[in-house]
Amino acid sequence: MEEIILKHPLVEHKVSILRKKDTSTKEFRELISELATMLCVEALKDAKLEDIEIETPITKTTGKILDEDNYAFVPILRAGMGMVDGVLKLIPNAKIGHIGLYRNEETLEPVEYYCKLPKNIENKTVIILDPMLATGGSGSAAIEMIKKRGVKHIKFLSIIAAPEGLEKIKKEHPDVEIYSAYKDSHLNDFGYIVPGLGDAGDRIFGTK
Ligand code: PRP
Ligand code: URA
Repeated sequence: MEEIILKHPLVEHKVSILRKKDTSTKEFRELISELATMLCVEALKDAKLEDIEIETPITKTTGKILDEDNYAFVPILRAGMGMVDGVLKLIPNAKIGHIGLYRNEETLEPVEYYCKLPKNIENKTVIILDPMLATGGSGSAAIEMIKKRGVKHIKFLSIIAAPEGLEKIKKEHPDVEIYSAYKDSHLNDFGYIVPGLGDAGDRIFGTK
């Protein structure tokens, strides 16, 4: 499965503002949310629809609807939380799970601290949310945790992805579709994405 990188002038525009170091917390949050909506639109291009009989003010006709119960969003804490309201605008009845992972700052290895997933998750398409795919350690660990629950259909939405992270996920989880707004150049010696946008969690929550 190849990664899917959004190509759209509005995405380029919004990512550029997101990257700027003096973008305010409010604007940063809004942009993360808007980009999450755009990524989700792309990720749902293959969504299965069911026929429904409807009556317009003019006539009876057949329409198509999505069974929202077939979807669960799983943000990786903390930064993934910033994408939740953006995707819920599209599927407001989707279930939400939470996976808590942080990167050990020295080893860059993910450390698990929380996992609460919706019941019957194995029957749903699970869409993982994390704005940053850097080494791919956190993303890969989150996918592993979800696969252990028997989930077969997984998509991963990231706003900025490093080539290193994309390669790791593709190698370890070739069945998972990855959607990103931007593929950046590389990781620096501290595991930060270059040019990137800094620490997404700190910028969303204003913690630094
Ligand atoms: C960030 C980011 C990802 C992870 C990406 O989270 O939100 O989860 O790093 O890095 P990786 O691909 O190398 O694993 P962080 O660990 O900083 O935690 P936070 O969201 O709580 O700030
Ligand atoms: N996590 C972030 O928030 N930013 C990076 O550049 C890498 C990991």
